[in-house]
Amino acid sequence: MAAITNVADLRAIAKRKVPRAIFDYADRGSYDEITIDANRRDLRAIPLRQRVMIDVSDRSLATTILGEPVAMPLAIAPTGLTGLFHGDGEILGARAAQAAGIPFALSTVSICSIEDVAGAVDKPFWFQLYVMRDRGFAASLVERAKAAGCSALVLTLDLQIQGQRHRDIKNGLSVPPKLTLANAVDVMLKPAWAYKVLMGKRRSFGNLQDRVPGGDSLTTLSQWIANQFDPSLSWKDVEWIRSIWPGKLILKGILDEEDARIAADSGADAIVVSNHGGRQLDGARSSISALPRVAEIVGDKAEILFDGGVQTGQDVLKALALGARACMIGKAFLYGLAAGGQEGVAQTIDIIRKELDVSMALTGTRNVLDVDRSVLGDVRSNRPSMQDWISP
Ligand code: GLV
Repeated sequence: MAAITNVADLRAIAKRKVPRAIFDYADRGSYDEITIDANRRDLRAIPLRQRVMIDVSDRSLATTILGEPVAMPLAIAPTGLTGLFHGDGEILGARAAQAAGIPFALSTVSICSIEDVAGAVDKPFWFQLYVMRDRGFAASLVERAKAAGCSALVLTLDLQIQGQRHRDIKNGLSVPPKLTLANAVDVMLKPAWAYKVLMGKRRSFGNLQDRVPGGDSLTTLSQWIANQFDPSLSWKDVEWIRSIWPGKLILKGILDEEDARIAADSGADAIVVSNHGGRQLDGARSSISALPRVAEIVGDKAEILFDGGVQTGQDVLKALALGARACMIGKAFLYGLAAGGQEGVAQTIDIIRKELDVSMALTGTRNVLDVDRSVLGDVRSNRPSMQDWISP
């Protein structure tokens, strides 16, 4: 097998290893996928500035996120259904993150529960909260996160209502996954997955055991979300969350300037600039294009985290240059997990770490804390007209 050199290689392996419905859930965006495409396109278009003859023999990627030391400016984003990408996926992801010295965020709609993950790692992880119509139940999730020693609560702001992902409907994505006539051949071709996940003990939403009607009965994810998530969620609820969660609070899903102003004054410790990986409002601007202005508005009132299309260390460098303290990876994490379990996640992190390290060096930067706009090239210079560069 050819060497794995980048996250795209892990994606290709993931595609071969997990059933199509699972792979597509991670890989695809909402509606016409304009926003998911824009996330990557805009990141790719940002030029970096090559600098030479600067001594870069001593380099450091170490930084802090929410005051905690981390080995590099990266965190694992909360992703739904992670344990369907690999048996015990959330546990393996949390272990890989812990070994790499970066934070791991567990989704409300995870397969392994808060307690499962807490029992499998020594370091605290973050818990991501979706607020349900049943506020008592949402509060009980917060209590469980507290009891598990979670070090931050990530409140997702941008999914009161789910944007439609056409592929999930066409693929009949359900939790727990079901074997149907339509997917039988696909599943048969992925025996290792079927053995670990389909035959494994954790196949449904671990945190929500008694919330999924009829125990193991099947629901499509989107139906379930529509029934459970509270569409009335508003800024007042952030105050409520603040009152029941004494720890660090991260608000995830800010893109707009007005929202950035409110979020900055909400008492949150960090804000994630995010369009939910292009999975929600299709037509929303790319996440990276929103980052500089949100970072400026928020200033030092909260830390700025960033997600939306991060697949390489170069992407991380660009986001840091534009005001992020650290980036979060969702898809890149799931590709690694699906491709190789804990080892695959470690590979994803390692690939991004090395890319960031080399790219920093080639921009003449020794310390990740020094990254600023000076590592960026002139945007216009990235797209010179042919005439400019062919004729001297
Ligand atoms: C859930 O968070 C999703 O994006 O599917």
